[in-house]
Amino acid sequence: MLYDVPVNLGDRAYEIHIGAGVLGQLGALCAEAGLKGKCLVITDENVGEHYAKPALQSLETAGYTAGMTTLSPGEQTKCGDRVFELYSRCIESGLDRHSFIVALGGGVVGDLAGYVAATYLRGIPFVQVPTSLLAMVDSSVGGKTGINIPEGKNLVGAFYQPQLVLADLDTLKTLPLRELRAGLAEVVKYGIIYDAMFFNELEASSQQLADLGDIELLAQVVGRCCEIKARVVAQDEREGGLRAILNFGHTAGHALEKVAGYGEYVHGEAVAIGSVFAARASVELTGLSPADCDRIEKIFQALGLPVNAPGYKWADLREALAVDKKTVGGMPKFVLSSEIGTVSIGNEIPEETMERIWHGLNE
Ligand code: NAD
Ligand code: GLY
Repeated sequence: MLYDVPVNLGDRAYEIHIGAGVLGQLGALCAEAGLKGKCLVITDENVGEHYAKPALQSLETAGYTAGMTTLSPGEQTKCGDRVFELYSRCIESGLDRHSFIVALGGGVVGDLAGYVAATYLRGIPFVQVPTSLLAMVDSSVGGKTGINIPEGKNLVGAFYQPQLVLADLDTLKTLPLRELRAGLAEVVKYGIIYDAMFFNELEASSQQLADLGDIELLAQVVGRCCEIKARVVAQDEREGGLRAILNFGHTAGHALEKVAGYGEYVHGEAVAIGSVFAARASVELTGLSPADCDRIEKIFQALGLPVNAPGYKWADLREALAVDKKTVGGMPKFVLSSEIGTVSIGNEIPEETMERIWHGLNE
């Protein structure tokens, strides 16, 4: 079973292929997408242990000369030092302008390998093979690549689209439960920002989703998220406006990730907390009903995600918010909701309100 979602971006259009047990089709799909020459698979230790061999085999069967480089897992890997090391691996592997990179892993590998592909020799093609739920539903689609610097998360990067995305749902069987839940935070986000019906369905099926019991349901959910993301990105590739809706929950979430120290909260957990922060602010500022706010909080809890982060000082959070990418003139911008399924971008939250909501969440 292979479920295809197109990303309609003119001469940068590509397909997202979703299915169970489809990693073996990687080489054939690369050939179908017109990729030629040598390739370098970039992965991390956790993913490589399970999926490096089948990925390489598939590429070699399709006639590619494929190399492999394996990184330490974790958010700290998404940094400038690793970028320079990977440029050296590209040179050693003989990659030229006709070669390509395969990002085999979660969002960390995808963002980092994508950024290397965007900048090595001023850009060579790359393929996303997401293996975490978060990467399947979000980071592998839409062409945002980048790294963290000490001053903040994702502050350096490039918009650079992959040639194809291949999401093998079977790889989720080895994903740790905490990471699976983190991916579900981004899944819920699509319901909040775009699709009230989808949110209702997620509420009804949260249990089956959380224990991965139903692969068909999972395929539908991943497919729906990719369709929404593809639709948004096709209208606004470079985040001139609409695409910013995808940042719901991310403004406070990114600040928390930084203040807590990258890795303390995994990205999806920070997004869940940031989403509850944004939902509470939405009740005060954009007319979200308290009942909808409650539903948002409850669905994250039902999925086993955190909804607050006690023990961090507001002053530290505020300082981190000041260097968020979306901050203008020191004032962070938030995506807020007026009802589940509808959001607006570019909202400022008064200083006093931000602080009160943060304290209210964590008391
Ligand atoms: P991750 O890449 O760190 O993966 C999470 C953990 O799961 C890692 O330890 C990884 O080794 C492991 N893992 C992944 N797949 C596995 C599998 N199938 N089996 C066993 N272990 C597996 O984190 P993530 O949650 O996938 O991605 C988070 C990153 O994505 C953050 O850096 C975030 O900024 C970025 N992101 C980017 C975008 C974008 O549009 N580019 C969107 C959202 C998030
Ligand atoms: N994850 C946000 C975006 O891709 O725009």
